[in-house]
Amino acid sequence: MPHPASADPTRVLVCIPTYNERENLPLVVERIRRAVPTADVLVLDDNSPDGTGRVADELAATDAQVHVLHRAGKEGLGRAYLAGFEWALERGYDAVVEMDADGSHQPEQLPALLAATAAGADLVIGSRWVRGGSVVNWPLHRKALSVGGNLYIRVLLGMPVSDATAGYRVYTADALRRIGLDDVASQGYSFQTDLTRRAVERGMTVVEVPITFVEREIGDSKMSGDIMRESLQRITSWGVHHRAGQLRRLRRREATWHQL
Ligand code: GDD
Ligand code: MN
Repeated sequence: MPHPASADPTRVLVCIPTYNERENLPLVVERIRRAVPTADVLVLDDNSPDGTGRVADELAATDAQVHVLHRAGKEGLGRAYLAGFEWALERGYDAVVEMDADGSHQPEQLPALLAATAAGADLVIGSRWVRGGSVVNWPLHRKALSVGGNLYIRVLLGMPVSDATAGYRVYTADALRRIGLDDVASQGYSFQTDLTRRAVERGMTVVEVPITFVEREIGDSKMSGDIMRESLQRITSWGVHHRAGQLRRLRRREATWHQL
């Protein structure tokens, strides 16, 4: 039996971006409602040609805890999430979850992520690359891309995070406000690394909780050459700025030593 909303003072919103996920969406929404009955759901649909938006409307019509934000067209994962985060902040949610629609992020693991939020984390990352985390059914090239990408990020940005590109997350509302969403330029999947970087830069508590990422069985990944290029370009430019800043600080310190 679902808890009455008053039993849990934390208001949680699960944001699900969708592009052609007609068959996956009802399955994942049902699993979320079962796993965390007090959480609300917001579907962020980019006017999917396969009619996912209509499926979302049908789910919302029969469940007051399911909402839909219809967007004009495909603008990328990052843009969709930004719209969802704004929607959540305007309505006073305490915690905002990012979750894929294709079942790769298992709703049954959400309570573990939320527990880390309750224990004081600003950002919780469902991580594939910490002890206990894993990926099921990924082709070798996707594994290599994720491991290589995360290595590049760690070396260049010096972030103490194993899975900075992960898309299964919980942000507290306060963390989202401190991160500042107005000037986020990332449109695609680089959004994930962008917000990780912003959280770390602001000295936030980032906690990685191991998850099992299960590759989708229905539909196709939207990962593309353009998305990868955006990520590579942005990460490289953040890295160059980061390292240049370190150099400037080092030179300043050296100059002070010479004066002593
Ligand atoms: N609204 C909207 N607009 N949704 C989108 C868009 C878009 O332009 N592009 C993708 N999505 C939705 C998909 O419909 C799905 O629900 C979710 O975003 C993830 O898309 P996938 O295409 O299944 O991503 P993936 O499995 O290849 O990548 C996963 O791992 C990446 C890191 O390895 C995701 O979790 C990414 O967020 C993550 O960066
Ligand atoms: Mn996927």
